[in-house]
Amino acid sequence: PTRREGGRRVVELVAAPGESAFLDGVVTPTWGYGPMAFGGPTIRARRGEDVVVRVTNRLPGTTTTHWHGMTLPARMDGGPHQPIAPGATWEASWRIDQPAATLWYHPHPHGRTERHVHRGLTGLFLVDDDVPVDLPDRYGVDDVPVVLTDRSFAADGSFDESRRNAVGLLGDTVLVNGTVAPYLDVRTTRVRLRVLNASPARSYRIAVDAPTTLVGTDGGLLPSPREVPDVVLTPGERAEVVVQCSPGRRTVLRSLPHDLGAVNGVARAAGGDDTLDLLELRPAGRLERSPALPAVLSRETPLRERAGARTRRFVLSSNRINGLAMDMTRVDEVLEPGATEVWEFVNRHTLPHNLHVHDARMQVLGEPAWKDTVAVAPGTTVRALVRVGPYADPEVPYMLHCHLLRHEDDGMMLQFLVV
Ligand code: C2O
Ligand code: CU
Ligand code: CU
Repeated sequence: PTRREGGRRVVELVAAPGESAFLDGVVTPTWGYGPMAFGGPTIRARRGEDVVVRVTNRLPGTTTTHWHGMTLPARMDGGPHQPIAPGATWEASWRIDQPAATLWYHPHPHGRTERHVHRGLTGLFLVDDDVPVDLPDRYGVDDVPVVLTDRSFAADGSFDESRRNAVGLLGDTVLVNGTVAPYLDVRTTRVRLRVLNASPARSYRIAVDAPTTLVGTDGGLLPSPREVPDVVLTPGERAEVVVQCSPGRRTVLRSLPHDLGAVNGVARAAGGDDTLDLLELRPAGRLERSPALPAVLSRETPLRERAGARTRRFVLSSNRINGLAMDMTRVDEVLEPGATEVWEFVNRHTLPHNLHVHDARMQVLGEPAWKDTVAVAPGTTVRALVRVGPYADPEVPYMLHCHLLRHEDDGMMLQFLVV
């Protein structure tokens, strides 16, 4: 949906109801960013590019479109303060200025985010930059999006929105890029998977029986590749992995059981016991040789904890942060543009939560991976360095919230100004 217009990249999205066929002979009513009936087109832009996105709302209710992971002015963020009424078009424009990363977009209307995302409104937003890195980069060939969502289907074929538990809507069927039980024809010795957990509540521990290297996380590439047995992704998180394939040897990308740290059987209820097949990799009998993985992926300076850095503490309890429920009229924190702070996320609750910060790029202390969403298991504290974005606005806030969307909707969200 993108075109160049006077030096700018212009993208048109239409959020609208539609119909999809996930199961044989069954029609499922869905919402999508047109032309897609479910999901959304992948948007791609380069660092330094000026982007204009026009979102038209053809849904029965008000929505918003948020650019998750993007560094941009608060008015363009697409959070709860940028509503798009039915029939209206909202225009967001900004200059892309951040390193290459796998970002995404989704609705963020306060109190209704889970419903809007669950009905299908989700797309990828890939940021490229000019620093050459020799990773597989042919989109759809050896650089493949893997958008994970889970759904349960009601008897009439519609998405079941009734079976919520403490973490939110959990499905028994995984859709990968909107497809049930998908496979990928692999033609190269290495394939890069850009995995996004777009599920409302489910966490995955992804693993494949083949050498797997983590090359990137939410906010960009790692300093150097890291071989990993698996990667845990809570809702909203991304991972870029490179899988080494052998000619003719089929393997399956799976989600394995993992410890959510939850107590009182909540882990089981939250899907922590489930084993799920996600994507079958089907390498051809002869494979084109991919280049070796580079030793250095990114030369970006990691964040450093400076003496005297401001520390903020966020205590998580049931649908509350620091005892507060989201209030659109209250400003909870005021930050300085470009500041680097230390944030402590303290989970005093029996449920797993994860914390997503708009506009900022984070690194968990001692970890060089760029994050915008971090998991915080029950009873644990996560300390992260947070680099605030450069844009000041004395009126319009950004959000900090749990990305288990039901928790967000139930008030587990605060607002901060950057001034
Ligand atoms: Cu992905 Cu505030 O959201
Ligand atoms: Cu976000
Ligand atoms: Cu939560």
